[in-house]
Amino acid sequence: MTKAVTFVIFGATGHLSRTKLIPSLAKVIAREDLSAHAVIGVGSRDRSSEDFMALVKASLSTAQVDTEVSERFLSGSFSYHAVSDERSYDDLASHVERIEAAEALPANRLLYLAVPPSKLDATVVGIAASGLKSGKGWTRLVVEKPFGTDLASAVRSNDIIHATFAEDQVYRIDHFLGKETVRNLLVFRFTNSLFEQTWNRRHIESVEITVAESLGVDGRAAYFDESGTVRDMLQNHLTQILTLIAMEPPAVMDAASIHSEKVKVLSAVRPIPADDVVLGRYGSGSIGGESVAGYLDEPGVSDGSLTPTFVAARMNIDNWRWHGVPFYLRTGKRMSRRTSLVTVRYLRPPICLFHREGDCRGHQNVLTLRLQPDEGFELLIDVKQPGPGAMIGQIPLAVSYDDILESAPDAYETLLADVIWGDQTLFVRSDEVEAAWKLYDPLLDRSDIHTYPAGSNGPESADRLIVTEPGVWTAI
Ligand code: BG6
Repeated sequence: MTKAVTFVIFGATGHLSRTKLIPSLAKVIAREDLSAHAVIGVGSRDRSSEDFMALVKASLSTAQVDTEVSERFLSGSFSYHAVSDERSYDDLASHVERIEAAEALPANRLLYLAVPPSKLDATVVGIAASGLKSGKGWTRLVVEKPFGTDLASAVRSNDIIHATFAEDQVYRIDHFLGKETVRNLLVFRFTNSLFEQTWNRRHIESVEITVAESLGVDGRAAYFDESGTVRDMLQNHLTQILTLIAMEPPAVMDAASIHSEKVKVLSAVRPIPADDVVLGRYGSGSIGGESVAGYLDEPGVSDGSLTPTFVAARMNIDNWRWHGVPFYLRTGKRMSRRTSLVTVRYLRPPICLFHREGDCRGHQNVLTLRLQPDEGFELLIDVKQPGPGAMIGQIPLAVSYDDILESAPDAYETLLADVIWGDQTLFVRSDEVEAAWKLYDPLLDRSDIHTYPAGSNGPESADRLIVTEPGVWTAI
């Protein structure tokens, strides 16, 4: 089946659009073999369509998109339209209709809202009051994360969206859900009975989810200083990983069933006591031998900012499967290196058959799912070391994605293709996003922020959250 799509990108000249969206769109159009496309960039500043085209070309070249793929993309219709007040949305709708008529497009409209949460409601209201909301084909609304800035704003934004769009037209993005290794989590759990049989409180002692970044705010202080790590990473990326690790198998593998299971997990998370959370902010330090500035000295960060760049939390899921198993979540910027890991620690054997010096309890089996980079997984198991006696050693059974996967599509590519084909599985439903905010709302106004040196792995006080073995966070 061939398809033709009108892409209307709000926030088209912003960082996300330039670095991720435009290159991924070019690749998706080639990969999905769209028969025709138009790209309409929308922003608040006046620009010409030529300026926009130049920005698109620069973005393709910076992302080193293949020449053939770029040429195919650039052969579509490109234009730019500024919006300021409600009337300008009507003008935008007429502009879109004119292009669709001129290019003989069926008016399948993908409205991509790459705008900060503060602009979301006004953008949706503008779209709702204009002819944009109803093309002759399908109309789908894609909303970037973070969706809202707290529970109340997320509920309000959902209400505003639902006044015009049905939930099956709404695609709330969390790009981690498009990563191959994150998509593999359900496959790993629900097709390997070896793991699924033991994936519960009877066999697992603790689960740790770490998303560490070595980058700082990376030129995005205007956005980040208002958001902070709880809104930027914990409420979405880490929470999505948590739900995929903890959810029950859905009755069928469709979007609605998966979303419902994820909501059930979030509803079972016990309210997080203040003491079970440590917030941090990076000071100056060094990463990979290079000195880097502290957060408060980054350009664009407000004086006396109380924005956290690190958060660690201990969470409990009060359901049949997980009661009593702590889930440790940790994410931060300017940590020693970039890595995203899930560490599942199994209980030790009940009795000690092989005596060893000092500690006879045996090791824990530890399953590490490496989400990025160096994608893969490993399981530590005990084996007898060759030779006399019964010396026990631990060895990894390891798999690297490099051995099984030639090249994985970028997360945005996967997600854009799913929007084009109308598959909501890898997106976040309205009740899911609200259930996540409910957990983290109490953390948003805290001012007890511990400083950690850039290049370390967060404030030392975060170690006290680990109440199971080995008593410290996984080394990264
Ligand atoms: C984004 C956050 O959603 O995810 C950024 O806004 C963060 O602050 C980024 O750096 C991490 O994503 P990735 O795919 O680069 O690991």
